[in-house]
Amino acid sequence: MSTNQWKVHHPTGRFRVVVTRNLPGEGWLRILQQADCRVEICLSPEGLSKQEILAALGKACDAAIGQLTETWDADLFAALKTAGGRVYGNYAVGFNNVDLAAATRNGIAVGNTPGVLTEATAELAVALTLAAARRLGESERFLRSGKFSGWQPDLFLGELLWRKTLGVVGAGRIGSTYARMLVQGHEMNLIYYSPRSNPELEAEVTAFGEYLKARGREPVTCRRAAHLDELLQTADVVSLHTILNAETRHLINARCLSLMKPDAVLVNTSRGPVIDETALVAHCRTHPNFRVGLDVFENEPELAAGLAQLENVVLVPHIASATRWTREGMAVLTACNVAAILQNHGVWPEADIRPFLSENPPQAAPSILNARELNVKK
Ligand code: DGY
Repeated sequence: MSTNQWKVHHPTGRFRVVVTRNLPGEGWLRILQQADCRVEICLSPEGLSKQEILAALGKACDAAIGQLTETWDADLFAALKTAGGRVYGNYAVGFNNVDLAAATRNGIAVGNTPGVLTEATAELAVALTLAAARRLGESERFLRSGKFSGWQPDLFLGELLWRKTLGVVGAGRIGSTYARMLVQGHEMNLIYYSPRSNPELEAEVTAFGEYLKARGREPVTCRRAAHLDELLQTADVVSLHTILNAETRHLINARCLSLMKPDAVLVNTSRGPVIDETALVAHCRTHPNFRVGLDVFENEPELAAGLAQLENVVLVPHIASATRWTREGMAVLTACNVAAILQNHGVWPEADIRPFLSENPPQAAPSILNARELNVKK
């Protein structure tokens, strides 16, 4: 292990924890050190290959903290188990990079970080929605390149969101927070498509509709679509908030795109492969009024051929959770997951993880994905 690429904290700690990339803030390190962990952090900005992670785990390792850009497969979990490992902390809420079944087979608990990304991700989805609808990317490029010669009646005409129909695919925490922001802020009617109904969201939109009605304004509406096609045909804005699995890979393909309104806005802050990116490029080329906002890409960090050249697409580099508070919070939750498992504490029984962000976080793991399978107590 080369010393200039790695930093070791609390070298005499009882538990050896390998961290494949440095994390923001100091709180997470404090938590691990208080749990008597020797923390070895890879400082290389390029990250580690699978072989390098295997080498870093070595012969004795109690826990690892890794990134969504790494594929934590059966080989890595077998190596972690052989090294004596008991827990892997994924520094993300999404876990499509983790072979959960393999982790479980090897008796490795897997932690993730729900609860601190909700508002940040929803806000970025709103930002992309507005940027795409109002053509911010292309108008900024136009201005910066010196083409702006003064106000014109038809310069960069875009789409008004107010009172239009919002389509949310996946009404979990992030999807429903995004929906609230646009329904309450822009009085949009909501249609959502989700495996489970969300009565809380429906009640909230209905109550907001009543509030508007009581003031003599047209109420907003909310309904759950029976089929994705229905949502795609109806919505002026479609925002994706689903997890990535075999069923949602290429959920939005050429057929789906052809069902959407020609001037609709499509936003993706979930995972890139939910959209068939090649089909999206083809659709955007033939539908110049169709607008897109993307935070995630099918083969990150690569972009499908032609995507970066499209004027009707706004692109940002997977930054939906990139607020300091969120990223430091994710680091704290990851550390708490690892520390709790190493110290044989149970899993936090509540959905609200905010107590973990206090000075004295609870002695529990905020979120262990395979807790039930591994019989980790609550
Ligand atoms: C996650 O945590 O899954 C996000 O994609 C990180 O921004």
